[in-house]
Amino acid sequence: MISQAVAAAADGVPLTDEFLADVLRGLSAAPKTLPCKYLYDAAGSQLFDQICALPEYYVTRAEIAILRRHGREIAGCVGNSCTIIEYGSGNGRKVRLLLKHLQPPLAYVPVDIAREQLHCSARALAEEHPYLEVHPLCGDFTGPLSLPPNGALFSRRVVYFPGSTIGNFTPQEALRLLRQTAELCGPDGGLLLAADLRKDPRVIDAAYNDRQGVTAAFNLNLLTRMNRELGADFDVDKFWHHAFYDPRPGRVEMHLVSRTDQRVLVSGHRFDFRAGESICTEHSYKQNLADLCELASSAGFVVQQVWRDPLNYVCMLYLATGS
Ligand code: SAH
Ligand code: AVI
Repeated sequence: MISQAVAAAADGVPLTDEFLADVLRGLSAAPKTLPCKYLYDAAGSQLFDQICALPEYYVTRAEIAILRRHGREIAGCVGNSCTIIEYGSGNGRKVRLLLKHLQPPLAYVPVDIAREQLHCSARALAEEHPYLEVHPLCGDFTGPLSLPPNGALFSRRVVYFPGSTIGNFTPQEALRLLRQTAELCGPDGGLLLAADLRKDPRVIDAAYNDRQGVTAAFNLNLLTRMNRELGADFDVDKFWHHAFYDPRPGRVEMHLVSRTDQRVLVSGHRFDFRAGESICTEHSYKQNLADLCELASSAGFVVQQVWRDPLNYVCMLYLATGS
């Protein structure tokens, strides 16, 4: 058996080189775009935690309502003696609600790109749950995951994918990720997936344009991060946060809009912005439940259970890979 202490986080990728390459590619594209995974440096992770507590951001509250109301039933689907692999584990608040209903032995592999928060939450979780084998993995969950060797984990694998983070992928990307996940789970495994549902556009718009400006700070922090980590010279005051819901694709687009004509240097590379030109920093798709179930089936899963919160804002699905 592996030690009960938290294993040192395995590092998947050379983050700075990849960050620079992605930024240069994204800012050279027309229209300009940046992968949303880079919103989460230490400051971004803290700002995201603040977003989760905002009155307008219903996603976290609704998911927690499902876990509180149906935790026992959800845990029944997940089962004991398995390895829970969590994609985008963040502060680990939600998995605690799941663990409450599960019996040891269990292994837990939180996967997150935000190194500081991953280390911190994995350590706290291991301290609170001495029976839990915790193996944090720092890296991109869309890439190949270097899981600890077989003997260190339970062979039955269940992926937990909370936060409606699936919505940050286009339907095509989501299908690819779900297929990859079905393969990772192997036979007799499963995926516990949370997703944000379509609803009154005013509710969605408010969630990405909060009155306190926390979402704006979260978005603008990406410029500060590029300045610090890539030697860029963005003037943060010369950009503004713009987020809107487009009902046809059913997604929120989040942008950083240039207030003026300006030139920016990133690691010696020059980028010109016209006034009003923007960088798209995130898509957040809102799902139609029937389409989501079809997507899961195309990826090789069997939809076993669906739960919703009382307001029908988000859903949670247990998807089995079958034996
Ligand atoms: N699961 C938490 C956090 C959701 S925020 C919750 O439900 O509240 C999204 C999380 O996923 C962040 O912690 C972010 O760092 C991480 N993340 C986003 N894209 C990622 C990627 N491609 N690979 C690994 N982690 C990613
Ligand atoms: C993590 N992800 C699902 C969040 C979302 O709602 O798309 C990130 C976020 N962006 C702005 N607010 C929250």
